[in-house]
Amino acid sequence: MVFTSCTKEDGAVPDSGMYKPTLVDPEDIFPKEFGMPLLPKDNPFTEEGIQLGRMLFYDPILSIDSSISCGSCHQQEYAFAEPFDKSFGFLGLRSSRNAMPLFNLAYHHSYFWDTRVKTLRELVFEPIQAHNEMAMTLPTLRERLKRNKRYVDYFNKAFNHEPNLHDMSLAMEQFLLSIVSKDSRFNQFFPGDNLQVLSQSELRGAFIFNGLVEFDANGKTKGADCFHCHGGELAQQLNASMGGVASNGLDPEPVDLGVGGITNQNQDMGTFKAPSLLNIAVTAPYMHDGRFKTLEEVINHYSEGVHFENPNIHPQMAAHGGQQLNLTQQQKEDLLAFLRSMTDSSFLVNPAYANPF
Ligand code: HEC
Ligand code: HEC
Repeated sequence: MVFTSCTKEDGAVPDSGMYKPTLVDPEDIFPKEFGMPLLPKDNPFTEEGIQLGRMLFYDPILSIDSSISCGSCHQQEYAFAEPFDKSFGFLGLRSSRNAMPLFNLAYHHSYFWDTRVKTLRELVFEPIQAHNEMAMTLPTLRERLKRNKRYVDYFNKAFNHEPNLHDMSLAMEQFLLSIVSKDSRFNQFFPGDNLQVLSQSELRGAFIFNGLVEFDANGKTKGADCFHCHGGELAQQLNASMGGVASNGLDPEPVDLGVGGITNQNQDMGTFKAPSLLNIAVTAPYMHDGRFKTLEEVINHYSEGVHFENPNIHPQMAAHGGQQLNLTQQQKEDLLAFLRSMTDSSFLVNPAYANPF
């Protein structure tokens, strides 16, 4: 990294103008195929800001007893999710939901299973202060960062300031926005003209996933319509009303209220953000409560376990007249093979996102 020292003119302002952070062009972060996401205008990417955000993400001093970092529950080898149904936070207390994977967040319009937060700079304060996650208080955190020589140095390099919590949240926002997963075989195949990238079984799975399947002799569909809510190159519907937020019929009646717990609207009860299926093979267990241990269990749910009686089930789930899909064993295997082609193994070891300590 290159830091340009400014000339004496800037010396008039005590702790500003000493450093000029190096701007990073968003086109170097986001792949053309994904398009350019809507980025916060007041928080441009800089090498120093992203690096500081990465340090903070992996630093346990953000928790009250310096035992837990963001990276404790969001582990790179699991696409920044973790292999537990509920997380272990401060004193081993459990979170109420399954930790979510973190990548391509710049394309999302809202965060958490219940979509309760709209920006990443706001989001970071939730886990930091949650009693069952990092249990930190903000005044303590501010003092801790201000007394830490390394952070005094890095905040100055990134923001020309001594550490403060606003800049902390901006640095973490930069790092989180910069995490991109784009190299799975599914992504090389997308939008479907690169057929040789997938095996025959994976290709058949792609057809099932996209509902491009014939009807059988009884007029029953033989395909699933996963693409409605998990379609496109991000394997995720971003439009909330199109299936980006939905009930996929896990329970006869809402248990965890999900989005309804935030909006208090009947139609939102038991609806959740539809996650991306990129890297889905490494983020078990599945769903907001981690109820399914394997992708086979997930596929069985969609094939024959959907609770159509759930009052808020999304219309796309009931697209086939509210009938279970009853996929054949071969179709299930093909669908599974296709889901596994969505793993981006280079992402899971990309040094740009790894623990810097
Ligand atoms: C104790 C475990 C734990 C820790 C520590 C933790 N998280 Fe999380 N994270 C979770 C859980 C659980 C969820 C889902 C919570 C929910 O939806 O209510 C989540 C959700 C998220 C999401 C939402 C992703 C999406 O697609 O909507 C982001 C972003 C995130 N965490 C970032 C962070 C950052 C940054 C930190 C550190 C400041 C952090 N997390 C610390 C467990 C943790
Ligand atoms: C109507 C929208 C919709 C359709 C159609 C749909 N899903 Fe989902 N999917 C969701 C939602 C919403 C969730 C999160 C539900 C929750 O946790 O309560 C989800 C969760 C998942 C998960 C778990 C993700 C994770 O990170 O835990 C997998 C895997 C999955 N879906 C696969 C599929 C497959 C395969 C199909 C087609 C057979 C499909 N989905 C069809 C909306 C949908």
